[in-house]
Amino acid sequence: MLNKDRMPIHVAVIMDGNGRWAKKKNLPRLAGHNAGMKAMKKIVDHSDKLGIKYLTVYAFSTENWKRSIVEVSGIFKLLVTYVNSDLHGLVDNNVRVKVFGDYSQLPKDAVKSLEETLEATRDNTGLQFNIALNYGGRDEIKKAVVKLAEKVRTGELEPDEITEEAIDRELYSGAADCRTPDPELIIRTSGELRLSNFLLWQSAYSELVFPDVLWPDFTPGEYEKAIEDYQSRERRFGGR
Ligand code: FPP
Repeated sequence: MLNKDRMPIHVAVIMDGNGRWAKKKNLPRLAGHNAGMKAMKKIVDHSDKLGIKYLTVYAFSTENWKRSIVEVSGIFKLLVTYVNSDLHGLVDNNVRVKVFGDYSQLPKDAVKSLEETLEATRDNTGLQFNIALNYGGRDEIKKAVVKLAEKVRTGELEPDEITEEAIDRELYSGAADCRTPDPELIIRTSGELRLSNFLLWQSAYSELVFPDVLWPDFTPGEYEKAIEDYQSRERRFGGR
């Protein structure tokens, strides 16, 4: 049973296994991503119902550009379909959408739809839904280092003022308009046991749960099981 008093504040998800799901059904890979998008919508709704405050999903990594052009452009078409068709629902449900990653590199129509969504949901106060797009953990840390170096160069910051908090503030998760606490729980579906460059800084003390289901088969029931698994763990943060 879920313990409503020990809900994680921030859950992050690596939505893995769309391709294998499609292959098992003899379908094109994009059919897997389409089914993955539907699964994602249910998890957004369910996070809101469970009172989770932040949900971050890994939708497109800095490495995913290596996939075929058909697959890459198909994923972005799905993104446009999702944000356009769900915008009213997101606004009605008080969800605030944010993007982690340099989304300016995405196709123009995707950038436009995302910006409309960011703007339309900006003042919402319910679930914050962070979509990691063209995101890589190392790239995020590298960008933070460059910004801090620039502040030192201009004299705005002394080297000994580069604290963990100062680094935090330069990450996507630390930006003033989308500040997100570190995730207590990171879920990766499909049985793969890796972080794959996701939230490398923020995951220092996260509990990791690896449900053995492909992402399109990840239901709200599976989600609750992953949260129960998290709740059964003892978190010590390096202490005893
Ligand atoms: C990983 O599965 C999934 C992705 C790289 C894309 C995730 C996209 C969605 C869930 C749908 C679109 C939603 C948005 C917001 C763009 P994989 O393809 O690596 O699966 P495999 O390891 O089985 O091949």
